[in-house]
Amino acid sequence: MSNRTLKLGANLSGVGNSMFHWRHPDMPTDASVSLSFYQEQARIAEQGKFDLLFIADGLYINEKSNPHFLNRFEPLTILSALAAVTEKIGLVATLSTTYSDPFTVARQFGSLDQLSGGRAGWNVVTSPLEGSAKNFSKAEHPAHAERYQIAEEFLEVVKGLWDSWEDDAFVRDKASGIFFTPAKLHALHHRGTYFSVQGPLNIARSKQGHPVIFQAGSSDSGKDLAAKSADAVYTAHETLVEAQRFYQEVKARAVAYGRLPDDVLIFPGIQPIVGRTFEEAERKYKEIAELVTIESALDYLGRYFEHHDFSRYELDAPFPDIGDLGTNSFRSTTEKIKQEAREQNLTLREVAIRASTPRGSFIGTPEYVADLIQQWFEAGAADGFNIRNVVPTGLKDFVELVVPILQERGIYRTAYEHDTLRGNLGLSVPVNRYTASLA
Ligand SMILES: Cc1cc2nc3c(=O)[nH]c(=O)nc-3n(C[C@H](O)[C@H](O)[C@H](O)COP(=O)(O)O)c2cc1C
Repeated sequence: MSNRTLKLGANLSGVGNSMFHWRHPDMPTDASVSLSFYQEQARIAEQGKFDLLFIADGLYINEKSNPHFLNRFEPLTILSALAAVTEKIGLVATLSTTYSDPFTVARQFGSLDQLSGGRAGWNVVTSPLEGSAKNFSKAEHPAHAERYQIAEEFLEVVKGLWDSWEDDAFVRDKASGIFFTPAKLHALHHRGTYFSVQGPLNIARSKQGHPVIFQAGSSDSGKDLAAKSADAVYTAHETLVEAQRFYQEVKARAVAYGRLPDDVLIFPGIQPIVGRTFEEAERKYKEIAELVTIESALDYLGRYFEHHDFSRYELDAPFPDIGDLGTNSFRSTTEKIKQEAREQNLTLREVAIRASTPRGSFIGTPEYVADLIQQWFEAGAADGFNIRNVVPTGLKDFVELVVPILQERGIYRTAYEHDTLRGNLGLSVPVNRYTASLA
């Protein structure tokens, strides 16, 4: 065994990722806009020595959206607040390359990186929902392939802007009156297909060089973007075999781009439900599953398919033929849903319930969940996991019951090794492109 250690992220999502979590008796109904709720979750995650807090996001809602999506914090804003009350944990915010501007994004993440002492990360997404265009003065939502082309150029520009200042550019010498060395300031002069950005950026690099780049999107184009430009990937898989296939493919693609397999870390999202006994874990799952109504499950499913109205179909008939719907939005997810429905002969009701109350595999006693995590980690399916809360005490249960087992087994840290996110993830600090030839 190598001395490779498991990485963990806490995916914080207020009242939860589905339509009904907010109705659980122990869930504070305003969690998605409660600073104290996020502070408490951050405290628990840092106590559990997690590598990072992760905040997902979206840019379009309607009356059928999940309650959490209706009224939630913008990721960079809440993470800036959490930077002030945490010390070591990484802060990863989701932000869209389809509906933002590279200069602003480089500046925002540069600022979070500086104010957190090198703990920022950016989860690059291309925005799946067509309705987003209507909120950003755009006539049309760009097609899936084009969204990824935009993302690739966007990332190049942002990374270029982050190198505007060499690390020793600021002299700040009061006696001589020299504030900085002009030769150590660099303009980007980028002119590309989608962006034209002169630079330089008005914030310097932090001690981790660049914020960590996450990527979420698992289609071919998504995997390719990750292999070329990302430090980590957030993905979702039901089975070990599926996760192994994805893991190997992204690493192989990274190698084809001249990178090392360990340069891009794979983080499947999982939803552990931990009980002191199997019965207790099962009871916790049931408390959530019993809250679901078929109407809310159909709305939840519909969002993946451009908010398609599934209530018009027969519930207990085979999953309907909806053609290409979903291909231009959450492509990798909708393809998986359609494929499973076909292969397993599922009805619409079964597909909707499964999508909105995924049981996942990680449900059981602390030892059982730790065993599975260790198995995925050692079998080449994951470098780390992004933990999602499905029951209100999910993160706390995980930290109190599973983390000590992983620590005892020597696959997970007992203390932070570094105070930057890159340092804790074992990623190197990117050399400034303007000093690379001097290194
Ligand atoms: C695991 C996972 C998490 C994602 N998280 C977000 C998110 O928080 N916000 C967002 O706008 N899109 C998110 N996406 C959507 C992608 O960025 C992308 O727009 C969409 O999935 C289509 O890309 P794909 O077909 O490559 O997966 C996520 C996708 C996956 C697979």
